[in-house]
Amino acid sequence: MSHSHLFVIPFLFQFLLLPVLSALGSHCATPPLSGSQLQVLHLYSPCSPFRHHLSWADTLLDMESKDQARLQYLSSLVARRSIVPIASARRILNNPTYIVHVRVGTPPQSMLMAMDTSNDAAWIPCTGCVGCPASTLFNTRTSTSYSTFTCKAAQCKQVPNSVCANSSCSFGFTYGSSSVTANLSRDAVTLANNDTVPGFTFGCVLKANGSSMPAQGLLGLGRGPLSLISQTHSLYKSTFSYCLPSFTSPSFTGSLRLGPVAQPKRIKFTPLLTNPRRSSLYYVNLIGIRVGRRVVDVPPSALAFNPTTGAGTIIDSGTVFTRLVEPAYRAVRDAFRRRIGNATVTSLGGFDTCYASPITAPTITFMFAGMNVTLPQENLLIHSTAGGTSCLAMAAAPANVNSVVNVIANMQQQNHRILFDIPNSRIGVARERCT
Ligand SMILES: *[C@@H]1O[C@H](CO)[C@@H](O)[C@H](O)[C@H]1NC(C)=O
Ligand SMILES: *[C@@H]1O[C@H](CO)[C@@H](O)[C@H](O)[C@H]1NC(C)=O
Ligand SMILES: *[C@@H]1O[C@H](CO)[C@@H](O)[C@H](O)[C@H]1NC(C)=O
Ligand SMILES: *[C@@H]1O[C@H](CO)[C@@H](O)[C@H](O)[C@H]1NC(C)=O
Ligand SMILES: *[C@@H]1O[C@H](CO)[C@@H](O)[C@H](O)[C@H]1NC(C)=O
Ligand SMILES: *[C@@H]1O[C@H](CO)[C@@H](O)[C@H](O)[C@H]1NC(C)=O
Repeated sequence: MSHSHLFVIPFLFQFLLLPVLSALGSHCATPPLSGSQLQVLHLYSPCSPFRHHLSWADTLLDMESKDQARLQYLSSLVARRSIVPIASARRILNNPTYIVHVRVGTPPQSMLMAMDTSNDAAWIPCTGCVGCPASTLFNTRTSTSYSTFTCKAAQCKQVPNSVCANSSCSFGFTYGSSSVTANLSRDAVTLANNDTVPGFTFGCVLKANGSSMPAQGLLGLGRGPLSLISQTHSLYKSTFSYCLPSFTSPSFTGSLRLGPVAQPKRIKFTPLLTNPRRSSLYYVNLIGIRVGRRVVDVPPSALAFNPTTGAGTIIDSGTVFTRLVEPAYRAVRDAFRRRIGNATVTSLGGFDTCYASPITAPTITFMFAGMNVTLPQENLLIHSTAGGTSCLAMAAAPANVNSVVNVIANMQQQNHRILFDIPNSRIGVARERCT
């Protein structure tokens, strides 16, 4: 990202959250959710211990630049030829956006973990960790149910770069510029109100260097063998849904609902596709895109699912702004600009369709097989509440990576319930106010 963007973005966003932020604080102590539901917090929510003192402008800039790294990461995944069960742990997400509370051990210790639908790993920073960013660490010594795995355990073969230290299983992975070492461990994990998963397998992080290591643990919601979804199959039947709060909602909280109980009945579905080369990613069949009522002219190859190249469309919780491959993005953007009419188009950071005067945006509809999802303005525009500039909150996939995958990102999912029904191979989407 060039330096000029650093100057422009603050003007855009400096007022965006001021009225919202000043009303906060009292919202953090929300009552526990019923049943198998966890509260989902935005990483930078005032209720999150990871909130920082960056301005909203810098926050957005930060999120957008991390999206580039995430796209690079996702592109590397789809291009990979062999299946390595938790291979993604080698290059774990660079951009955790939403976090949940879980309790680990006996007696339970409260930990925060980032949720990531495109990842299979689970890891938790443990006490004694050298180089972990300061935050809550899991104290293995005070938990009576904690144990490690021997090198002969089957699970030890599912982790990358495993090594045997004092006959217990350790493994290593890199994360951005950081190198991380963890013991493969297990302990009871309690989710939601009182759903206890005995013997949950995770990486207990004991060493990290560099500055890329995120402060919280990671809760992978992918489909690989060591993901939360696979490990809790008997309890939750590989079914979950989430509703992600909008950046502009006062409490920034949504919910992660685990298991088939209490999932919405009135919801539209599209088939879930499986790429055997990258089985943990949630691929769907995007067959067209509408701007307003008009279907835009996107070359079919820009949308087609191809397990060999990894091309197609995934639903991802960790990317912030939707990225479409270049020809698809160009078609959507041009149709969007035509609908706005004569107003002068400017650009801002990674966004190339911005307007300094107020605009009325057309809806954009993602036409999936069997399901049209029409996004209103709140999922499409980021704008200054001061009445200034608005931008279309999507972009072309970065040109410097071999991008073939379209990523439906979390801003476009906000205030929708996204239901992952893995036994029936389908994904459901319904509008819902998350808070
Ligand atoms: C292995 O165990 C010995 C004795 O318990 C200990 O001194 C040593 O630090 C351990 N090695 C590692 C790599 O943890
Ligand atoms: C991690 O593994 C090493 C080597 O076996 C062991 O010495 C150490 O106590 C373990 N630490 C934890 C927290 O499991
Ligand atoms: C949680 O569930 C366990 C059994 O699964 C039960 O023994 C315990 O009393 C429950 N605790 C609470 C606080 O409901
Ligand atoms: C972290 O450690 C690894 C090897 O242990 C090293 O190759 C790497 O350069 C280190 N990274 C940083 C940022 O210090
Ligand atoms: C666009 O500009 C042209 C020429 O300035 C004008 O004739 C036309 O009415 C404008 N269209 C809209 C939609 O404002
Ligand atoms: C989605 O919209 C298109 C075009 O507007 C329409 O032809 C199609 O039947 C719709 N699909 C569903 C599943 O409603």
